[in-house]
Amino acid sequence: MFPANVLNKTLGINFPIVQAPMAGGATTPELVAAVSNAGALGSLGAALLAPDAIVSSISAIRALTDRPFNVNLFVLDVPQPDPDQIARAVEILQPLRGELGLPPSQLPVKYCEDFAGQVEAVLEARVPVVSFTFGIIDEAVAAACKARGTKIIGTATTVAEAKAWESVGADAVCVQGSEAGGHRGTFLGDFNASMIGTMALVPQAADAVSVPVLAAGGIMDGRGIGAAIVLGASGCQLGTAFLTCPEAAIHPGWKSALRGAREDQTLVTRAFTGRPARGLINDYMRRFNSIQHEFPPYPIQMALIWEIRQAAAQANRPELLSLWAGQGAPMSRDLPAAKLVDELMQEAERALNAMSR
Ligand SMILES: Cc1cc2nc3c(=O)[nH]c(=O)nc-3n(C[C@H](O)[C@H](O)[C@H](O)COP(=O)(O)O)c2cc1C
Repeated sequence: MFPANVLNKTLGINFPIVQAPMAGGATTPELVAAVSNAGALGSLGAALLAPDAIVSSISAIRALTDRPFNVNLFVLDVPQPDPDQIARAVEILQPLRGELGLPPSQLPVKYCEDFAGQVEAVLEARVPVVSFTFGIIDEAVAAACKARGTKIIGTATTVAEAKAWESVGADAVCVQGSEAGGHRGTFLGDFNASMIGTMALVPQAADAVSVPVLAAGGIMDGRGIGAAIVLGASGCQLGTAFLTCPEAAIHPGWKSALRGAREDQTLVTRAFTGRPARGLINDYMRRFNSIQHEFPPYPIQMALIWEIRQAAAQANRPELLSLWAGQGAPMSRDLPAAKLVDELMQEAERALNAMSR
């Protein structure tokens, strides 16, 4: 049996594994509940959901599990659109809209959901755990979470960010190495300089903070979990590994691209959403990566490509979708989430036992 540690106690879980929140629909209530019922922590990626949709997703999760689960939000300021930058992005994307049979771009009515409203929904639902990325919450939000018994996990990509989360009262810090799939959580330093590998970041963060550290980025099996524990992590957050579970609702073309991926076929680009994120190299990336800096920042660019993404998915053209994936994608396996959690824990135990022998 894997030894219980401080993270398990803090989050009320049996195994120190967190299924990463993955905004955009992958983390269905079925996936979250299956992971939590298996003794790990399931997470709902709620960043793109309006407050009422967050409330209904939380109810759906609660109908499937009475175990702790996590709800994740992006910490966003109110967007400040620059009309010239938007006009340039619209011009660049117009040919692609034409190829997909979309009419010329109408500017979005809103660029993202209201963060304060999302926080209110999560607070009212009194969820067991809330996690944040892209920024840091203020002390008032931290105090409101604590008053409701909701544990806080903050995302950090540098030691300074991990310390900032500890100072604001986070119960655990998820340190995201550069291997990670999806968006970079960087909020203090330069995105490029904050691309620190999991192997280098985890021990430095674990030495710098006294709250439990979760390692994220490139961890796909029990060897990775064992290694992260040896490096000083109390647990691991895995995203890519859960994308090929049947409970994860992503485009079938994305699942098959993950299965056929090689370790050198991902790239970090801001071409999709205006914020650096790692995904599988595809036609969209090849076309726009070299001019990625002409696009406006998140969430504006994300809103501008929204219809393109929907149309590309409907037309079954994954070569135009953001196929977020970490550098460990080739190690993906097709297993139901509960079975994956079980295998991960058995492998981690074997890896740690082999080392102690
Ligand atoms: C498809 C996808 C979507 C993601 N969306 C989110 C998100 O909404 N919120 C968040 O905190 N992290 C998100 N992440 C990042 C994960 O939390 C985590 O850092 C990452 O998955 C770890 O690397 P791995 O994919 O190699 O396991 C996402 C990752 C992926 C692959």
